[in-house]
Amino acid sequence: MKFLITAGPTREPLDPARYLTNRSSGRMGYALAGAARHDGHDVVLISGPTALDVPPGVDFIHVETAQEMYDAVRDMLPGVDVAIMAAAVADYRPVAYSERKIKKDGDRMVLELERTPDILGSMRSVFGFTGTLIGFAAETNDVEDYARGKLERKQCNMVVANDVSRSDIGFDSRENEVALVFPDRVEYLEKDTKEHIAMHIIEHATIIRPQ
Ligand code: CTP
Repeated sequence: MKFLITAGPTREPLDPARYLTNRSSGRMGYALAGAARHDGHDVVLISGPTALDVPPGVDFIHVETAQEMYDAVRDMLPGVDVAIMAAAVADYRPVAYSERKIKKDGDRMVLELERTPDILGSMRSVFGFTGTLIGFAAETNDVEDYARGKLERKQCNMVVANDVSRSDIGFDSRENEVALVFPDRVEYLEKDTKEHIAMHIIEHATIIRPQ
């Protein structure tokens, strides 16, 4: 099968010296790419900046911004059977980019932000993707409820939900504890390394029938 996986944070530039980003390390997405490749699948990994090595045998596309990730996903989508959106895409970006470094001026500063394109939300509705679609939900409360809402709104076949209010798992951590939310059920995976969790997710991904 052919897998497309997004990973890592995006960077939304403000001026030549500054950007908005988040705490994603990219580990979960890279582990998924490695696990899918290990199982013999073709894998394209589209990632924002991380400190990680690309797993051997994986096709790699580096992007910086949400818009670049959106464009790369759209371009790489033909022929993809399973898409897993593990990237922590910035939801907002600065409205204006300043070609010159912004100088400090006064005690306060207001930044105006605008929405970035919703890549997961565009998969079915804009790109017409008909394969298996897997999203991630990082929540601090009501994790399953929000994950189920996301699953329905974005027409996913599975949402991997994790609780980012816990410091021992998720962001920056080598371990994770997730719930796999399907249209008709929820499956809980025990706390484990991201590599082991990735193997389970890939197994599920290959047996889901998208329609
Ligand atoms: N995602 C995406 N493009 C974006 C934002 C998010 O593809 N611009 C994907 C992420 O990769 C992840 C999923 O959407 O798979 C969850 O992101 P999140 O921002 O939590 O989803 P929202 O539905 O925007 O929920 P919230 O109400 O929490 O903002």
